Amino acid sequence: MPLFARPFHEGFVAEVTGIDLRTVGTGAVRDQIVDLLDQYAVVVFPRQSLFDDDQVAFARALGGPLHYGQGNKVVENKPRFADQAISDISNLADDGTLLDRADPKRMYALANRLWHTDASFQDPPGRYSMLSAKVVPSSGGQTEFADTRAAYEELPASTRRDVARLRAHHNVAHSRATLGFAFTDEQRAQFPGADHPIVRKLPSGRTSLYIGAHASHVLDVPIPEGRIVLHDLAWHATQSRFVYAHEWKVGDVVIWDNRATMHRGRPYDELHELRDLRRVTTLDTDLVAEAVA
Ligand code: OGA
Ligand code: MN
Repeated sequence: MPLFARPFHEGFVAEVTGIDLRTVGTGAVRDQIVDLLDQYAVVVFPRQSLFDDDQVAFARALGGPLHYGQGNKVVENKPRFADQAISDISNLADDGTLLDRADPKRMYALANRLWHTDASFQDPPGRYSMLSAKVVPSSGGQTEFADTRAAYEELPASTRRDVARLRAHHNVAHSRATLGFAFTDEQRAQFPGADHPIVRKLPSGRTSLYIGAHASHVLDVPIPEGRIVLHDLAWHATQSRFVYAHEWKVGDVVIWDNRATMHRGRPYDELHELRDLRRVTTLDTDLVAEAVA
C-alpha cells in the first residue's frame, strides 16, 4: 500500500497512512518522511502502536544521534525505562502508581505545558521529536504545535530586520524557574545551556523563529530588553491561526521538526487519569545556523 499523506492546517500538518513505521529502514520511504517533515513540520501517523524498541529504531533511521533525556535525571532516581533515549512523558511513578500532586517529577514535567522546542538548551539541540501514545486520558491532554515558519513570514518586515541577527541563550533551568522549580547550583552546572540564532533557515528554504520557554535572554542586549523581544515573538507565534492541537488516540505517533515549531502539552486530570506517552528526539547535528538578512 503506498504511503498516503493528507495535508491539513494550512500546509503545517499532514496525516500519513499506508505505512508501518517498523518497516521504514533507511531507504526511499525514510527520505519521503523527511521530505514530508520539511514540507509540513508536523506529521501524524495514526494506529502505529510502536514498542519502545521500534520507536528508537525508527528515530535512528531518521538520522543523527539521539538525545539522551538528561533532564529527567534531575528528578528521577530510577528512570522507568532502561533505554535513556526514551523520555518518559507520563504521570507515572517508577512503582507504577500515579504521581502525587507535589512529586518533583510532576513539578519538573509541568514545564512541558510552556511553549518550547525540545532540547534547545543543548548544542546540538533537538531536531525531530516523536511521541508515541500508549495510554491517553478521557479528555484533555492534547499536544499543541505552533508553526514558527508561518509566524516568521507574517512578522512585519521591520521586526524581521530587527531580529535577523539576534542570538538567544537557552537554559533548562530557566524554563523550570518560570514555574518556580529551582535548580540547585550543581544541577545548573550540569546543564550550562546553549546559544542559538533566533531566526533559522530551514532545509526547505523557509525561515523560522527559534524561541520557546528555554530561551532565557538575548545575547549582547540588556536582559529585560531581550526578554521582552522573546515574549513578543512567542506571543505572536502562538496565535490560534498558527496552532494545531493534536487529540491523542492510543497508538498515534506524531513527529515534529523542532526547528520549525514550538509545542506544549495541555492539562488533563493528572491526579486521577493516566497519560503515558513516550518520546524520542534526534539531534540537529548539521545545524543550518546562519542568521538571515
Ligand atoms: C514532549 C512534550 C508535551 C505533551 O514530550 O517533549 O513537550 O503533550 N510533551 O506531553
Ligand atoms: Mn517537549
